[in-house]
Amino acid sequence: MIENMRKDRKQQHIDEYMKSTHKNSTLLEDVFIEHNALPELDFDEIDTRINFLGKGIDYPLMINAITGGTEFSREINRNLSKIAKSFNIPMAVGSQTIALRDEESHSSFSIVREIMGKDGVVLSNLNAHATIEDVKLAMEIIDADGIQLHLNPAQELAMQEGDRHFKGILKNIENIVKVSPKPVIVKEVGFGISKDVAKRLYDIGVSYIDISGKGGTNFIEIEDRRNDDVDFTDMYAWGIPTALSLIQCRQVGDKLNLIASGGIEKSTDIAKALCLGADMVAISGTLLRVLLEDGYDKAYKYMDDLTYKLKMIMLLTGSKNVEELKKVPYRVQGQLRDLLQELG
Ligand SMILES: Cc1cc2nc3c(=O)[nH]c(=O)nc-3n(C[C@H](O)[C@H](O)[C@H](O)COP(=O)(O)O)c2cc1C
Repeated sequence: MIENMRKDRKQQHIDEYMKSTHKNSTLLEDVFIEHNALPELDFDEIDTRINFLGKGIDYPLMINAITGGTEFSREINRNLSKIAKSFNIPMAVGSQTIALRDEESHSSFSIVREIMGKDGVVLSNLNAHATIEDVKLAMEIIDADGIQLHLNPAQELAMQEGDRHFKGILKNIENIVKVSPKPVIVKEVGFGISKDVAKRLYDIGVSYIDISGKGGTNFIEIEDRRNDDVDFTDMYAWGIPTALSLIQCRQVGDKLNLIASGGIEKSTDIAKALCLGADMVAISGTLLRVLLEDGYDKAYKYMDDLTYKLKMIMLLTGSKNVEELKKVPYRVQGQLRDLLQELG
């Protein structure tokens, strides 16, 4: 019964995401990186490869958590994992809560591992309330290289049937990090992680944070579209823009591994996020939209263009590899500069 409700919700999230229209800014447009007309590099020399969770991948880009649990989401995961495999980039499955109690749904998640093979990087996903047993089972189902634990209080509160209990989550994450056999990534779902939250997570042993900031997928709007009871339109601008969240979280320290997501659409977004301190960049909504509206070939082409233009920007900033791109100086202007000055 509850599993059927969860399956319906998963489907509705995709349907309502596809209908959502509100656009917030990531503030990445307030970031300026300088053009280098004399890079002294050949295009073929540009090396986008990095190591992530102990495996070699071809780009500092991953497909972030979206779905699983239904026949339709199995098809989405099949297509997304074919793309992830082709570009040798990591992929996270959507929340596996359904799979913990419904064995039938396992294949909609495990198809990702099947397609990506043992060399691919595949991540589990659960709510940060999860028990250690849940974490282990979720990872076992897809032979995961790590697990994402999501923090989504804004989404839950906009959801009529959503959770209203948010106490004890930090302690729960601490306990999971201590015993988890694989790395734990704590992530938002599109409202951003503040410097204070990043510091509290870092202090209890979390070494991977996906900031998932404002500027892309908006779960207040998505839940609002499912919720006839309350009108949440005045809350659509809630959250920390991706660029601001990223710069602030990087101030916590160089040892923290940061994944930048939330509104990543263009190659300039990826390059700027890396300059601002991200170790990895993640995309969900935009890729899902291209896949569902235009089909697999167009989604593949979108990723092909994205990666070509990332290489182009690397050459145009004189960056032979990702480490060099991360060191390219940046300037901030406009609202991003104002907010950074205010926050100190
Ligand atoms: C349809 C849809 C379903 C999602 N489901 C999950 C989920 O199950 N677990 C999770 O951690 N994040 C989920 N997300 C959030 C994404 O992983 C990501 O954090 C967020 O969408 C911001 O990135 P974007 O702007 O590139 O979409 C979902 C996103 C979309 C579009």
